[in-house]
Amino acid sequence: MTTILEAKHVNKSYTVHQHEEHQILKDINLLLKQGEFVTIMGPSGSGKSTLLYNISGMDQVSEGSVYFAGEKISALSEKKLSKLRLNKMGFIFQHSHLLKNLNLLDNVLLSAYLAKNSSKEVIGARALRLMKQMGVDGLASHNITQASGGQLQRISICRALINNPDILFGDEPTGALNSSTTAEIMDILHDINAAGTTILLVTHDVRVAARSQRVLFMLDGKLVAERNMGKYNKQQNIRAREAALSDWLTEQGF
Ligand SMILES: Nc1ncnc2c1ncn2[C@@H]1O[C@H](COP(=O)(O)OP(=O)(O)OP(=O)(O)O)[C@@H](O)[C@H]1O
Ligand SMILES: [Mg+2]
Repeated sequence: MTTILEAKHVNKSYTVHQHEEHQILKDINLLLKQGEFVTIMGPSGSGKSTLLYNISGMDQVSEGSVYFAGEKISALSEKKLSKLRLNKMGFIFQHSHLLKNLNLLDNVLLSAYLAKNSSKEVIGARALRLMKQMGVDGLASHNITQASGGQLQRISICRALINNPDILFGDEPTGALNSSTTAEIMDILHDINAAGTTILLVTHDVRVAARSQRVLFMLDGKLVAERNMGKYNKQQNIRAREAALSDWLTEQGF
């Protein structure tokens, strides 16, 4: 399988109080194959979000290189990088970050308008198809105050998928949802991955990670352990995967 994302010897430091250097990411090496579904776990403050932002080009590495589909993105200009992110990457976060002055359909469409890859008719139809798939097509003309947290998260998934990205990044996408909504969102993500999109998530939730194929464990800015669980399919007993993953995390001292 082809490599979609690779990080080589990535370091990230922040300067605090003008002169103190804090190294947050320490020699990160990571390789993601196309079609994989990988999660990153680890204690709060271990650097998971920082890692996600640095390997997705949202932030700039201090040292090392990041390659996306063979292209060194850590060396791209901001303009080229934005274009690549817009067209090839989708992002979902704990909170949906939707715009309050646009209705939900326009929130989904905005990135497609910016990318200018297809006609308005084509992207409009795609947005409605995605919204239907996620069960939120009835909310097209609503604004963000007229939808539940779970519905808004479905909308933000539609927004992330509107330009048909190769990879979907998520930083605790179910962190603000109750457990039944979490399960629904995870089923959606599973289907998106089964259809071919690579997924990389940061999560605290064993139930979320148990549906991924590989879990990377992060501690103090380093990737220190990895568990390969194989692809999940819905016929498998998810509870057994969760239990095995919990045991492994306990072994890691989590
Ligand atoms: N812009 C910044 N400037 C200085 N320090 C930062 C900055 N962003 C993050 N950090 C520090 O980097 C460390 C890792 O933060 P990060 O948000 O990546 O952790 P995390 O593993 O995602 O934690 P959580 O599980 O709580 O979300 C923390 O100590 C944080 O204070
Ligand atoms: Mg975080």
